[in-house]
Amino acid sequence: MIVVSGTASRILARELANELNVKLIEAEHKYWPDGEQIVRIPEDVKGETAILVQTTYPDEKIIELLLLQDALKDAGVAKLITVVPYFGYARQDKRFNPGEPISAKTMAKHIELQSDMVITVDIHNPNELAYFTKPVYSVSAMEEIGNYLKNLDHRKPDLIIAPDAGAIERAKKVAQIVGVEYDHLEKKRISGDTVEIKLKNLNVKGKKIAIVDDVISTGGTILKASKQLKEQGALDIIAACVHGVFTNMADVKMRVCCDLVIASDTIETERTRISAAPAVARFIRSQAF
Ligand code: R5P
Repeated sequence: MIVVSGTASRILARELANELNVKLIEAEHKYWPDGEQIVRIPEDVKGETAILVQTTYPDEKIIELLLLQDALKDAGVAKLITVVPYFGYARQDKRFNPGEPISAKTMAKHIELQSDMVITVDIHNPNELAYFTKPVYSVSAMEEIGNYLKNLDHRKPDLIIAPDAGAIERAKKVAQIVGVEYDHLEKKRISGDTVEIKLKNLNVKGKKIAIVDDVISTGGTILKASKQLKEQGALDIIAACVHGVFTNMADVKMRVCCDLVIASDTIETERTRISAAPAVARFIRSQAF
């Protein structure tokens, strides 16, 4: 077994190879003068089970992934497992307007074409997996987020919060690991034109909080939540997510209300503090390849 990394996932691939104790091959990557990409697998991989790791964000990384898949197949790998740590377009999982494609389905169709199995991390909506026809799995890096938060000393949170009801299970998992309570935010209509966002059950006054979510994109969800929590007396707020997309420097803008912003290596950014590799490795070890 070998791990092959594309340019979007060098860190995660290296961690994964370490976890699995297998060889890492970093695929070569260059550009033609017109900006088109050239990839190359620099070693003999014939007969190997190859685990190709490449996040499909931003768009250029999708092309690189497809090229790498073909390069590995043409080089004679016996089995190709594609790990897409952050699955771009997963949030376009329905036709929002007539005439649009279901973009998540488009991605699934093309990514699975050369793969024997696809593994992703904390897919936004598990229903998205139904668009695949080959074996596909979404593993969760919430355990890794929980372990990171548990080991913070003075900043260890007293309370884990989901920014909405959809993220409760994630908050619960993290809270169990950290050994603290969890809750979620919900909108309460105070009057005809006033909506308040409050915790469902608990009080945040004087508490150190970690808001956990699968993805932070514009930062709008967490910013709104953390602003409310600060107004309600929260002492310290950590925003923790698996996928740090951070559109238009959202991570910097979030610092207005969030004392710390952290993310995993499914997207490699300056906020990457956690590796999702152990979660992927646990799953791969559980399979009989
Ligand atoms: C929503 O269902 C997701 O879990 C995230 O809360 C959301 O996608 C984050 O997006 P943004 O950072 O743009 O608010």
